[in-house]
Amino acid sequence: MRNTFSRLIIISITLLCLGAVSSCKKDKEAAGTDKELYDMVLLSSGIHWYKNSSALLDKSSGSGHPQPFLRTWYNTAAATQLDSSGKIMPGAAFPEGSLVVKELYENSNSRARYAILFKDSDHPDADARGWVWGYINADGSVAEPASKKGSSCIGCHSQDGNIDYMLMNKFFL
Ligand code: HEC
Repeated sequence: MRNTFSRLIIISITLLCLGAVSSCKKDKEAAGTDKELYDMVLLSSGIHWYKNSSALLDKSSGSGHPQPFLRTWYNTAAATQLDSSGKIMPGAAFPEGSLVVKELYENSNSRARYAILFKDSDHPDADARGWVWGYINADGSVAEPASKKGSSCIGCHSQDGNIDYMLMNKFFL
C-alpha cells in the first residue's frame, strides 16, 4: 500500500516537471516592440498585395522561412514603392512608416506566422538602415524578438538582387 502511494507521488512529480519543461519551451507572448508590430499586422487597413494578388504562393527556393505557403502585403506608405503591377520598383527606398508583412501559411487554411519589416529609423529596435524586424506567430507569441534587430535575417536579405532588403522581387518575377 505504502509502495503504491509513493509510486503515485513520484509519477505525479514527474508529470509536473514535464509540464513545466514543455511550457518553458513555448514561444513567449508578444510584449513591447513585438506587441506593437503584432497590433499593426492585425489592424492595418489599406493593404496592397505583391503583384496585386492575395493568392497564396509556394515559397521560393531561397526562402529562409519553414512554412510552405506565403503572401506579402504593403501598407500605404510602403506601397508607394510598388509599380502598377504591384512589383517593387528598381532602386526603391522605402519611406518612414513603411510596413511590409509576409504571411506564412502551413496550409491554405492555417496562417502560422508573420515576418515583418517596419521602417522607423528612430525606433530603439531599428537596425542601422532604419528597419525593425519582426517574427511573430499567428497566436501572438514571439518566434524571434525584434530586440535582436534582425540578426538572423539580415545576412540572407542582403543577398544580390535585394531592393532595400526586399526579396519578393527576386524570387517572384
Ligand atoms: C535564408 C534566407 C532568409 C532568411 C534567413 C530570412 N528570410 Fe525573409 N525572405 C527570404 C526570401 C527568399 C523571401 C521571398 C519570399 C519567400 O520565398 O519566402 C523572403 C521574404 C521576406 C519578407 C517579405 C518582403 C520581401 O520582399 O523580402 C519579409 C518581411 C521577411 N522575409 C522577413 C524576414 C525576417 C523577419 C527574417 C528573420 C527572422 C527573415 N525574413 C529571414 C529569405 C530569407
